[in-house]
Amino acid sequence: MTEDRMSRRAVLGAAGAIAAGAAFMGLGGPLPMAEARTAKMEKWPWPYVKLDPAETAELAYNEWYRVFCGAAVISSVFTQLRKKVGEPYKSFPVDAFIFLEGGMSGWGTVCGSNAGANIVTNMIIGPRTSGSEDGMLMGSEMLQWYSDAKLPTFTPKEPKIKFDMPTTVSNSPLCHISVGKWMKAADKSLGSPERKDRCARVTGSVAYHLVEMLNDWKDGKYKTQGAIPSKMYGITAQSNCGDCHGSNVPSPPTAKKI
Ligand code: HEC
Repeated sequence: MTEDRMSRRAVLGAAGAIAAGAAFMGLGGPLPMAEARTAKMEKWPWPYVKLDPAETAELAYNEWYRVFCGAAVISSVFTQLRKKVGEPYKSFPVDAFIFLEGGMSGWGTVCGSNAGANIVTNMIIGPRTSGSEDGMLMGSEMLQWYSDAKLPTFTPKEPKIKFDMPTTVSNSPLCHISVGKWMKAADKSLGSPERKDRCARVTGSVAYHLVEMLNDWKDGKYKTQGAIPSKMYGITAQSNCGDCHGSNVPSPPTAKKI
């Protein structure tokens, strides 16, 4: 991403480059610019200004074709905040999250768009507390929304593929199940342009809903519907137990008292 590289170069500047060089060579000494930047990065949550959900979804859709689902969701929000807020968003390495593709490095675990959305909610809402000031709960609400929605919900203004796009309900936040159910309904392969455009539109759909939630939160209207499944089931899990276990859902051992 050229804008990112350029802003990084600008941040480092000549003094920063010398300081960074000294650090690499083990010379120690003060690193004023690098330190200031790190301090800014590590302090979170980060400031948020309201964004337009439709515009964000368009950005996410287009970014999918460059960095895929997870990084595209992060990029759709953070590139706008780079312009409206500046640092620390300018120093955030959005493109590093390309590995979320295909349910993380192609393993079909959580859909990258959900992972990207969780990174954004946790950066912006903040650490674990309780109630609606908890980025994890908004992230969990996103996973539930994704599982229940007829995806994709978003249609771009100028779709790259003109296609009567089927929608499917995954009943799961997992890439494997979500993309698999869609591929079956559409009878399209993983490598087909239609499947790629479907995932780009799903990415746009997630970015859209993410910004809706963030805007409500910014307005003080957000009441989380997120819950942490491991607290409910006694095992880390998705709620669709029966899809995998059939009618014979095992019960986890209860906690031993020591
Ligand atoms: C995505 C598929 C999937 C979902 C959804 C899922 N499980 Fe599992 N679960 C598995 C697999 C696979 C295993 C390991 C194989 C096995 O033992 O059946 C497992 C293992 C377990 C185990 C360990 C003990 C055992 O008998 O294997 C428990 C307990 C369990 N699951 C409970 C649940 C509950 C409760 C839910 C819903 C809240 C759930 N699972 C949802 C796939 C899933």
